Amino acid sequence: MTELNIQEKMIIADYENKINVLIDKMTIEEKVGQLNQSLPSIFGAFGMTKDEIIEKLVKGEISYEDFQAMERDYHKDDLRRGLIGSMGGITGAELSNQLQKIVIEESRLGIPLLFGLDVIHGYRTIFPIPLAEACSWDLELIEKTAEIAAKESSAAGIHWTYAPMVDVSRDPRWGRVAEGAGEDTYLASVIAAARVKGFQGEKLSEPGRILACAKHFAAYGGAVGGRDYNTVDMSLQTLYEVYLPPFEAAAKAGVGTFMSAFNDLNGIPCTVNKFLLTNVLREQFGFKGFVVSDANSIAEVVIHGESVDRKEASKKALLAGLEMDMSQGTYQQDLPEQIYNGDIPVDGLDEAVRRVLRVKYQLGLFDNPYRTDCNLEEKVLLAPEHVEVARKMAQRSIVLLKNDENILPLKKNLKKIAVIGPLAENKKEMLGTWAITGDSEDVVTVLSGIQSVVDKNTEIVYSKGCEVTGDEGLDFNTAVQIANESEVIIAVVGENAEMSGEASSRMDLNLPGRQEELLKALHQTGKPVVVVLINGRPLSLPWAAENVSAIVEAWQLGIQSGNAIADILFGDYNPSGKLVATFPYSVGQVPIYYNHPKTGRPASKIKFTSKYIDGPSEPLYPFGFGLSYTTFEYKNLVISSSEVTKDSKVTINVDVQNTGDRSGEEIVQLYLSDVVASRIRPVKELKGFKKIEFLPGEKKTVSFEIEIKNLGFYNDAMDYIIEPGVFKVCIGPNSKEGLEGEFIVVDY
Ligand code: BGC
Repeated sequence: MTELNIQEKMIIADYENKINVLIDKMTIEEKVGQLNQSLPSIFGAFGMTKDEIIEKLVKGEISYEDFQAMERDYHKDDLRRGLIGSMGGITGAELSNQLQKIVIEESRLGIPLLFGLDVIHGYRTIFPIPLAEACSWDLELIEKTAEIAAKESSAAGIHWTYAPMVDVSRDPRWGRVAEGAGEDTYLASVIAAARVKGFQGEKLSEPGRILACAKHFAAYGGAVGGRDYNTVDMSLQTLYEVYLPPFEAAAKAGVGTFMSAFNDLNGIPCTVNKFLLTNVLREQFGFKGFVVSDANSIAEVVIHGESVDRKEASKKALLAGLEMDMSQGTYQQDLPEQIYNGDIPVDGLDEAVRRVLRVKYQLGLFDNPYRTDCNLEEKVLLAPEHVEVARKMAQRSIVLLKNDENILPLKKNLKKIAVIGPLAENKKEMLGTWAITGDSEDVVTVLSGIQSVVDKNTEIVYSKGCEVTGDEGLDFNTAVQIANESEVIIAVVGENAEMSGEASSRMDLNLPGRQEELLKALHQTGKPVVVVLINGRPLSLPWAAENVSAIVEAWQLGIQSGNAIADILFGDYNPSGKLVATFPYSVGQVPIYYNHPKTGRPASKIKFTSKYIDGPSEPLYPFGFGLSYTTFEYKNLVISSSEVTKDSKVTINVDVQNTGDRSGEEIVQLYLSDVVASRIRPVKELKGFKKIEFLPGEKKTVSFEIEIKNLGFYNDAMDYIIEPGVFKVCIGPNSKEGLEGEFIVVDY
């Protein structure tokens, strides 16, 4: 964040005064109201309970469309009484302005409402899932998609997104890996900052910008067994070195809000965790915004068994540093009495209210509570330039995992191509998790993407073969028959959207249902099989990796899925993505991640070493891996100095040449490792990368400048230290290959 100029300082002083004046006028209930986020409720309408409505939905007696169209209760009386500071789940300029109007014109103090929503990878223009976007390693483009998401959602009345999710996770069983940037701390940190910048811009009050929220604080991705909401138990060193840096990066980038995580951390639920919410967040990171709970997470502290009732939980949450209660009215119900009887000091409440009001000022809501209108909304949503960026981002999110004998790119003038698989002609599943405001009608399917790029005379034949899960609709016969008639088979398989994301942990990472059998049947035809994977997490695919001709990891790419996949398959775009999470051979290897600490018995042929007896200990595809249609050669690793002091920098250069005959982008990766230290260090850690475009034959010197102060770690006493000694350098195309060198950090 840049330094403030005099004028900006005056504006802040001005709104700080206004906030104080406002706080003086507020009743306890109104103050608590500012800390209360409400959702429109549907349950109870039509004389049906929540369970009854859900049962009817599940049975299909109420369609999802009808459910969405059901009349909601917007708690208008509470809005008039100033008891709600923020609303979730509201979409559309018309409705948000209508509700804002009630608050502005009919409540005593007219404090504007803050509308929040999960705008995770686009609003109407749905981009690739965050995990996929991260595989582009393209910070500029990642910032751009967040900027577009902000533009569209703010036009639709949203002020605040619960994104980015910056949780590092090393466990692909955890469904929420789809929402983050993968397993690496450094990459997740720079991506966190890019996303915050994209949403918030330089100034929150600029038109088209929204407030971001770094979530879920903290270590949610460390859930034991990869099971969502499960307990998290880790050393403070791992917390500080692996899980916290992306949050700190978001705070440094100026993120306005944080969300507490559902899980406990070493026995204390994050929602009431003073160490996290005050010591780390406020005191160490210097965070000035406010913290929102996760949905109902204050009340859930009672279920955790940490507090006896909601009253105790809400007191602990507020005093720990959690300002806003999401969705269950716990604060509203349980705080006022405790303030009146002196159990909670009113100063604590005022400070929390001040933090919320400050953000509302920064968003410009006091000057202009209606930031949009229906015309703007109509104009901005799904604008052609947004769709164009969606295609570009989708192309760059794809990772080419295998390409035997350069079968890809395919020629556009083949006679007949068989497109097979349950996800080949699907729209809905391409959107991925958290695409609540997307419309599957906007999606280009893989089949239609392919049809639109091939020559007129190329015949495309399609068969579904099977469903993603289960045994219904099995028809291998037709699939095999059309495969036999074709020159190449494109098999589009993977996961449904709801198989990743929240509450979607898996205990198996194989292709679900009968899909692998389908691949085997297709392989038996002897025709080349190109597998296109649509999924929200790393999968274990040893059979496919061994047997099919090519594997294109396409993830869930959003509305431009089909076009982007066709661009890759037929060579209109040369794949440049690299994995941000390790692919295991088997779920039994999980957690498996590249930057693991060194063991005393690294795997070797010797029996008593760290490995499995029934399969490889190496990953199927390592972190940072991805192929291109061209080739790159790395040469001449040069380190500026063989000895460096702790407060200095080292420059590391390498020559990279495109040795193929087509242009391509390469993500050059720099890994470092501290060879000997008083606490054992990871085998290597990513410390820099550059994504660079090369013309055929072109050679460039790629340069990295590393500050030695960033190479430290936390010792036993939790002091951050840099120890003298040898550091190994590795620069290459992924975490397994590269040129090696070293330098020494000296103490004088
Ligand atoms: C999720 C959050 C999300 C919130 C609001 C929760 O269940 O954990 O990530 O932002 O719901 O929808």
